[in-house]
Amino acid sequence: MDTITPEPRAAWIAGRAEQGADTLVVTHPFDGSEVATVAVPGQEQVERAVEGAVSAATRLRRLPAHRRAEALEHVSRGLAARAEEIAEIITAENGKPLRWAEAEVTRAVSVFRIAAEEARRFAGELQRLDTDPAGEGRMALVRRVPRGPVLGIAPFNFPLNLVAHKVAPALAVGAPIIVKPAPRTPLSALVLGELLAETDLPEGAFSVLPVELEATTALVTDPRLPVVSFTGSGPVGWSLMDRAPRKHVVLELGGNAAAVVLGDWPDLDGAAQRIATFGNYQAGQSCIAVQRVIVERSISEEFLPKLLDAVRAQRTGDPYDAEVSVGPVVDEATAERIVSWVDEAVTAGATVLAGGGRDGATVEPTLLTGVPSSAKVWAEEVFGPVLAVSVVDDADQAFAAVNASAFGLQAGVFTTDVRLAFRASAELEVGGVVIGDVPSYRADQMPYGGVKRSGAGREGVLPAMRDLTEERVTVLAGIEL
Ligand code: SIN
Repeated sequence: MDTITPEPRAAWIAGRAEQGADTLVVTHPFDGSEVATVAVPGQEQVERAVEGAVSAATRLRRLPAHRRAEALEHVSRGLAARAEEIAEIITAENGKPLRWAEAEVTRAVSVFRIAAEEARRFAGELQRLDTDPAGEGRMALVRRVPRGPVLGIAPFNFPLNLVAHKVAPALAVGAPIIVKPAPRTPLSALVLGELLAETDLPEGAFSVLPVELEATTALVTDPRLPVVSFTGSGPVGWSLMDRAPRKHVVLELGGNAAAVVLGDWPDLDGAAQRIATFGNYQAGQSCIAVQRVIVERSISEEFLPKLLDAVRAQRTGDPYDAEVSVGPVVDEATAERIVSWVDEAVTAGATVLAGGGRDGATVEPTLLTGVPSSAKVWAEEVFGPVLAVSVVDDADQAFAAVNASAFGLQAGVFTTDVRLAFRASAELEVGGVVIGDVPSYRADQMPYGGVKRSGAGREGVLPAMRDLTEERVTVLAGIEL
């Protein structure tokens, strides 16, 4: 597809398309070819975007719910109508196979649709105050009001849907949003800007600023943007929180998600397929891609060959090829880093059952056993197509292994035992437990986020709407209840 345009792709400054003070070049991770040139706004343009957000805040908050919902529905319909084109853009800038890019567009269609539904429902609640003599004749109205304009900083791994998860809840509650897309993958966010510009949202309700580090840091500390919602790497996320200690900061960070296969699980072929697929989808570049596989000893001999076959069946190559399931990682330096982590594990005693090498930015789907728990491929976030297996004696050991991690985003537990399912849900130190499937399952309306080093706060449309607003109490005195 041809993504090169005569002029750089425009940035969105307070709702208007503008060329920038500079440009950046987007390249295709698979072969390094040039995909597009994008306008990088200068300081004066960034200032107008912030001023625009501040001056739109009151108008957007007052905009009737049906008008906000209509704008969100328009974006949802627009994404659906342009699904094929946008999926190709995602593949071009991110390198994920088309099938995963298509799935991402489908999800973003839902995110905007759900946000429109929630915008119509989002209200306050009444609270009785006459529970004690001092409150007789009184009632409280508890409403949620936007905390203020939002700065949304998005990662490269879902260049459309993780932007959607910032934009849709903000607009649903009536908060202006400034999006800072990842510099490698700004194109999908700019398309979202096109669709938002077709709505009648007030000027300044949104901006899309593909700016570099210095301008981003200034936005993070700018007191006019009281909310920062960041998805990306842990070190960057926590450093943002340190830079803006008085702001409301939401962090969706990484993980080393575990899939636990317990002895009672009847469909080992199915578990192997799901784990191989979701250890390798998007070349492992999802915060909830399976990384650690924890298998109960009683079934490990039967399960491991099935997992090995399923990993070997993953096809690498050109992400535009419909047969390909594993494309490149984001760049060659990252591929080199991933392979060096595999080498480190091998030096420490791990065995490579599959993969272990790379071709350019494409890392071979890799399966390791006997990995020491101190090795980076076990203890850190690989963000690549690498699965590390550990065999344990029972569910106690399996759950302890899941929790022996600095991260805690999601975990998957293959069991049919309802008591073990409840135990997993109570004991696993993560933001979400998936019973009967991989940890990589995410429905966009679910609360999504982590504990420990995996982040702070929750996304998912309604949870994010709650997070972007704060309670305001109005006490009604002298009323008949
Ligand atoms: C992430 O990588 O954190 C997002 C995963 C998803 O939305 O499926």
